[in-house]
Amino acid sequence: MIVRPRRLRSTPAMRALVAETRIHPSQLVLPMFVAEGLDAPRPISSLPGVVQHTVDSLVDEVRRSVTLGLGGVMLFGVPRPEDKDAVGSVGSSPDGILNRALTALRDAVGDDIVIMADTCLDEFTDHGHCGVLDERGRVDNDATNDRYVELALSQARAGAHVVGPSGMMDGQVAAIRDGLDAAGFTDTAILAYAAKYASAFYGPFREAVNSALSGDRRTYQQDPANRREGVREADLDEAEGADMLMVKPAGYYLDVLADVAARSQVPVAAYHVSGEYAMVCAAAERGWLNRDAALAEAVTAILRAGADIVLTYAASELAERANGSKR
Ligand code: PBG
Repeated sequence: MIVRPRRLRSTPAMRALVAETRIHPSQLVLPMFVAEGLDAPRPISSLPGVVQHTVDSLVDEVRRSVTLGLGGVMLFGVPRPEDKDAVGSVGSSPDGILNRALTALRDAVGDDIVIMADTCLDEFTDHGHCGVLDERGRVDNDATNDRYVELALSQARAGAHVVGPSGMMDGQVAAIRDGLDAAGFTDTAILAYAAKYASAFYGPFREAVNSALSGDRRTYQQDPANRREGVREADLDEAEGADMLMVKPAGYYLDVLADVAARSQVPVAAYHVSGEYAMVCAAAERGWLNRDAALAEAVTAILRAGADIVLTYAASELAERANGSKR
């Protein structure tokens, strides 16, 4: 007798029956950009299909995300260059683009989708770092945490259901949790970018947010060489009160993701980042890859490794396919 696993691959119906991993719209989160001073949405050349939104076009797109059944949206703000300063003041201002957009979104869609905000300073600082700098030009951990608390509070006030500290400062989750609780925002959740690596795959994102950074983030983001350190960071964030953890990037860090997913007591997200998405788009434009199949495979692999939630620029198209409206 030959053992025949191929029996379970014999028809599409059989394969669907035995699939261990499925993409469901409710576990997908769409990262979105909203920019100050635009008359109309502006395409991001290195992220085909992704735009910098106006507040109005953002609201329209999020209404569509609700219809598609997406789990959430993650919002990034892009201020005017002249509004950036050393401490990223415009990020925590209620009149800043991110907070205005959050307010408009929450008014428009209420609790129909989970509204998440990136809680970081890099989009708002004139030097482009994720924190404030000390007199020697180094990122000052504890002074940065004070700013993160102000950012998170402003985002909670504006209507974010979830704040997403992504700057990799030590103690950022505890600081934000304390700040939110003290101000009465006990229901605002924290999605901690727990294991965030200093990755070359963030390239297109830097275009998307008109990043002012020269240099790199290697004193705060993690070294791609380190697996155990990612698990340590995740454990720390969970202990500090994170409601959800994230591993980022996703596809090249499935080992870290699997480790974190195996031990975490809270839901684990993975961020399929701009470069991971853009590479597939670029290859598909040349006819070298099948775009739809490659994106679906990438996200399936991330889920198979243990992610409960995937942030991806392909969220809408994957949801359309899962809903059967696109094949
Ligand atoms: C930093 C931040 C980054 C991304 C999201 N938030 C990266 C960075 O500039 O270091 C990258 C996301 C992507 O590449 O899609 N606040």
